[in-house]
Amino acid sequence: MKKRIYITRKIPGEIKSLLEQDFTVDMWHEEHIPIPKNILKEKITQCDGLFCLLTEEIDAKLIEHAKSLKVISNMAVGFNNIDVETATKYGIAVTNTPGVLTETTADLTFALLMATARRIPEAEQYLRSGKWETWSPMLLTGQDIWGATLGLIGLGRIGTAVVKRAKGFGMNVMYTSRTQKPEVEEQLDITYKRLEDLLQQSDFICVMTPYTKETENLISTEQFNLMKKNAILINTARGGIVNEQALVEAIQTKKIWGAGLDVFASEPISKDDRLLQLPNVVTLPHIGSASIQTRMRMAKLAAENIKKVLLGEDCDYILNPDFKNGATST
Ligand code: DGY
Repeated sequence: MKKRIYITRKIPGEIKSLLEQDFTVDMWHEEHIPIPKNILKEKITQCDGLFCLLTEEIDAKLIEHAKSLKVISNMAVGFNNIDVETATKYGIAVTNTPGVLTETTADLTFALLMATARRIPEAEQYLRSGKWETWSPMLLTGQDIWGATLGLIGLGRIGTAVVKRAKGFGMNVMYTSRTQKPEVEEQLDITYKRLEDLLQQSDFICVMTPYTKETENLISTEQFNLMKKNAILINTARGGIVNEQALVEAIQTKKIWGAGLDVFASEPISKDDRLLQLPNVVTLPHIGSASIQTRMRMAKLAAENIKKVLLGEDCDYILNPDFKNGATST
């Protein structure tokens, strides 16, 4: 009997077909409506492989139900939505899609930085709403990007790709991370700083670190108090790393100048959220990796990961520590 895959959102037909070559595939057919939890709970008990998105919380309760499940393949590089520890306990592999979205996400991060610094959405809205009457000296003035100091919190693949863009704009770049990377520092001409120093010295602060228990609320009131008055915070990683209440307060009281956010603690953000009422805050609906080419690459990699695990082949993107693949091979 063929192994069964469940896909939690409508994905492009060619990716689904790729899985259908070897498996029996079932799918939640909506594109813009997430699968209800009760349906996911039922489906997860009936499959060997789960293809899911960052919108699904695959927690211990769901995993404990999933008696035949052997692999959870997340179509994202971030995997804070999955309880990897519990999956490991039950011998279930968890995979993600790193690498294929690096450059695209770095592009968006830089676009958001520029849009926030130069007030591009606000300026566009100003023009479209018929407010533009004349050129004037301080109209819609923002912050300089060239020559400014960019501080990166985290220097993984995407952070490194952001550095390359920043250097092209003549920025001075510093970073902080758990491990110092002297070779990368030399190669990219960047400087390591302690978090506190980085916050005090940067004009732009980019959050580029994974969301874990350790990074939850990493940027809160104490950290905003250290930042420059002209600082701009950019977050394209995960919303929970920044305390949003503290961010609202920091902007309202002009402790910092602005923020560009592609991610939120709770997604989708409510249209009444206070963040959406603030000037100098540019908000996007989690589109960091959203180019056609990259989303296709992510979906394909997520499908390949499932395939490899279920067929007992080597898979480079298993996240469980010390997981030995092959146990599920037929
Ligand atoms: C990820 O992959 O984790 C991004 O947030 C979406 O591409």
